[in-house]
Amino acid sequence: MSGLLVGKRLLVTGVITDASIAFSVAKLAQDNGAQVVLTGYGRLSLVERIARRLPQPAPIIELDVTSPEQLAGLADQVREHVDGLDGVVHSIGFAPQSCLGGGFLDASWEDVATALHVSTYSYKSLAMAALPLMSPGGSVVGLTFDATKAWPVYDWMGVAKAGLESASRYLALHLGKKGIRSNLVAAGPLRTMAAKSIPGFEQFEQAWTERAPLGWSLTDQEPAARACLALMSDWFPATTGEIVHVDGGYHALGA
Ligand SMILES: NC(=O)c1ccc[n+]([C@@H]2O[C@H](COP(=O)([O-])OP(=O)(O)OC[C@H]3O[C@@H](n4cnc5c(N)ncnc54)[C@H](O)[C@@H]3O)[C@@H](O)[C@H]2O)c1
Repeated sequence: MSGLLVGKRLLVTGVITDASIAFSVAKLAQDNGAQVVLTGYGRLSLVERIARRLPQPAPIIELDVTSPEQLAGLADQVREHVDGLDGVVHSIGFAPQSCLGGGFLDASWEDVATALHVSTYSYKSLAMAALPLMSPGGSVVGLTFDATKAWPVYDWMGVAKAGLESASRYLALHLGKKGIRSNLVAAGPLRTMAAKSIPGFEQFEQAWTERAPLGWSLTDQEPAARACLALMSDWFPATTGEIVHVDGGYHALGA
């Protein structure tokens, strides 16, 4: 077996369809020699069906990232399949409808709290749940959507992503002494189930399609997945607290 991730054992969250960024990560990781364990949320039979499309079988562990019980049991369940973890992928996001599509001024705290719990705090929760299996050289990677700007319809999800970006830096700070890295990939817009739940998402699609310096495909998850793989490989050994933009260069533009 050859490839970027030969011998690496990865935990990949967030597969729900074959358009999920996590699906591309899992597929490419297997193609590059990694052993992949998946977690699934909610519709587990659907996750099982999608996982059958991977090049190799991958075990699936149920994980609601807001469940303290499931987080507490995660390491033991992962150990049934692999004896340690070299990489953990957080590819999870959710916000109630009130938080998106222009609802910024009216969304309730309860709804915003849900968005922050699932999309922001969970990055730390997942890393801590996996920590007993990790050793120096390990890598945690998450997915963000450039949170340095206020986007037209992203609203509280944008705030959640700003928090995620900060949380990744703090994780880098606190896990650095254990030799574990934390980095994010800031992807451009991709047509996934999560994206479809954002009213007005086509505004992003149009902006990227028209303006990204390198051009942008709304249906090609592979560039973002490749960056996740690179960050879990041995080729970014001294990089942590970083955000790698995989957006066709859109973030570099002025108004
Ligand atoms: N699609 C885009 O345009 C885009 C751009 C930049 C970043 N991202 C980010 O990429 C990540 C993956 O999203 P995607 O676009 O692949 O969409 P997706 O819908 O395929 O994946 C989102 C995943 O989050 C999971 N999830 C939701 N609530 C959960 C919970 N409580 N516990 C565990 N899992 C839960 C879902 O089951 C799903 O698998 C998200 O963080 C998203 O914000 C997406």
